[in-house]
Amino acid sequence: MRFDLATYRRHSAKLVTDDLDLASFESRPLDADALRCLRYMHDVESHTICYLRDLLVTRAHRDPEVTTFLTLWSYEELWHGEAIAAVLAAHGEAAGPTRVAATRRSLPRRDALRPVASQLASAASSHVTAVHMAWGAVNEWTTQAGYARLAARAGHPVLTELLRRVMRQEGRHVDFYASQANERLADSRAARRLARFTLRRLWAPVGSGVMPAAEVAFVSRYLFAGPEGAAVAARVDRRIDRLPGLVGLDLLTSAVASHAGHGPDDGRPRGAGAPVATAASVDAALSASPRAARPSAA
Ligand SMILES: [Fe+2]
Ligand SMILES: [Fe+2]
Repeated sequence: MRFDLATYRRHSAKLVTDDLDLASFESRPLDADALRCLRYMHDVESHTICYLRDLLVTRAHRDPEVTTFLTLWSYEELWHGEAIAAVLAAHGEAAGPTRVAATRRSLPRRDALRPVASQLASAASSHVTAVHMAWGAVNEWTTQAGYARLAARAGHPVLTELLRRVMRQEGRHVDFYASQANERLADSRAARRLARFTLRRLWAPVGSGVMPAAEVAFVSRYLFAGPEGAAVAARVDRRIDRLPGLVGLDLLTSAVASHAGHGPDDGRPRGAGAPVATAASVDAALSASPRAARPSAA
């Protein structure tokens, strides 16, 4: 089914969090692991505009459907970062512009070359936009599943509600990228080959190019290790399998395996009452934002 851009234009909005009881974190704070994961998500969400920088120098900027979506997408992602910043601030942690500026100052020098690399790749192949759309679908699926897992592991009702709203918007991002990738990959064998080659060789969990390797490893294990996490990762990989030419890549499962460990962040739920994100519950979350759904943030 084709993504309904007109509906998305009407419903795209800043995430609403004003009604959430963020003060509840004072009496019932998140544990250290959940906060560490949230710092990662805050930094990565806030980095979206920099990903956009690298995308707009490619031929993707010639497609008005793509640029319309990207305009609204980057706005929504900004407010995902701001919403997580509010949770961190409720715990007395630095967040927002202070933390974002520090993250950008710490980027490796090679980050300055990313727009050049994107531009050269786009000049070399007319199928780069298809690769970006497939890459975007993979990242949005992974992100949405990660939020579902964090909500389940943290077991905090206010965080759960905040992340539920974020996940609904991520679901619309999934719909756009997956719809675009489906069409573009189905149309061209060369696009399928390039997307498969690029994802297999270069894909790493969202934030890998921005965050320290130790944080990427921690978050990968915290969210997707252990039986429940592995089941969720496999579910994401099966969704990627459905894109033309991308069956059997096992991207998320392989990435998590490369960070495998049996430390305190091995995917086990915290506390006797902590709910577990099962494959079924994440599947429900992944399906919670069909194209026709109204935004929960309103
Ligand atoms: Fe987001
Ligand atoms: Fe997203």
